[in-house]
Amino acid sequence: MKKPVKVLITGAAGQIGYALAPQVARGAMLGPDQPVILHLLDIPPAAQSLEGVKMELIDAALPLLAGVLTTTDVDEATQGVEVAVMVGGFPRKAGMERKDVMAKNVSIYKSQASSLEKNAAQGVKVLVVANPANTNALILKENAPSIPAENITCLTRLDHNRALGQVAEKVGARVTEVKNVIIWGNHSSSQFPDVAHGTVGGKPIKEAIEDDEWLKGEFVSTVQQRGAVIIKMRGMSSALSAASSACDHMRDWIHGTPSGTFVSMGVFSDGSYNAPKDIVFSFPVECKGGRWSIVQGLQIDDYTAGKLKATGEELVEEKALALQCLEEQS
Ligand code: NAI
Repeated sequence: MKKPVKVLITGAAGQIGYALAPQVARGAMLGPDQPVILHLLDIPPAAQSLEGVKMELIDAALPLLAGVLTTTDVDEATQGVEVAVMVGGFPRKAGMERKDVMAKNVSIYKSQASSLEKNAAQGVKVLVVANPANTNALILKENAPSIPAENITCLTRLDHNRALGQVAEKVGARVTEVKNVIIWGNHSSSQFPDVAHGTVGGKPIKEAIEDDEWLKGEFVSTVQQRGAVIIKMRGMSSALSAASSACDHMRDWIHGTPSGTFVSMGVFSDGSYNAPKDIVFSFPVECKGGRWSIVQGLQIDDYTAGKLKATGEELVEEKALALQCLEEQS
């Protein structure tokens, strides 16, 4: 039996946490032969609910689950973790300004960054899910300088998977036949879902679909707006698909992407494809040996370049707002 891996899930009493914990404990994230110890963190008002989640995890008799720690103490939660999935955050409530939500989240991610830096295992891999996901990841990176920047990422895999799903539905193919779509930029409605390099059943998506109007219009807006539509339909967030995509993100990062296949990840930008540097931007990446690298050399037309510019500008603005909030709090 392998040694169990400690996996932190913050916001574990929330919607996504509830869907994610059992998926991790079933091997969807780290593999079917890797035992896990779950470290579940939430805030004191959610402590009772967190205990309820732990009871259900025990009741599910999950063979890979080697232990569950529930806590409202960040330093206890981050102790020795090799994988950290940051789902906890402050939601936008009616009447709140964007800056107010940013201020709350920036302060959460600043303090949790310090705790991870102090207590997590060396080489910890961090995935930020909570919104604003790219900017929360950036703040975490800035406040945990000893954790290498390449170990801190954010989730745009859900948007990526949504794009795969839309193409598969449109052509009547299985989703496994659709490959190499890209989500560029921010996990927000400014993101750009791009199929120009993608294939379905080995054929370019554009040729298989033969409907440029749909690809440039309805397809893009469906992927961009999907989260909001699901909240409207369910009255709750897209927790099932977010949890599933978080597992996909981490699994591919650790175990590698299949040869010739790339996926989308929010990573610290080196300026590839003229994206602004020093922000967390979603790029096409390949993963091997536990490391990701941005796929280089893809041809970008003027239309796509304009979309990349717009989403990059939004991230630069978000960063400025986040830094302003941090300054006001210090
Ligand atoms: P939720 O409100 O059900 O759960 C959030 C949990 O975080 C709550 O239990 C809350 O008590 C906890 N929390 C708040 N502050 C905390 C702190 N300082 N430390 C630890 N836990 C804390 O929300 P849900 O639906 O689970 O979504 C979580 C986040 O994920 C939201 O920010 C949402 O916008 C985001 N999201 C991101 C997606 C992505 O693709 N990147 C997709 C869907 C949601």
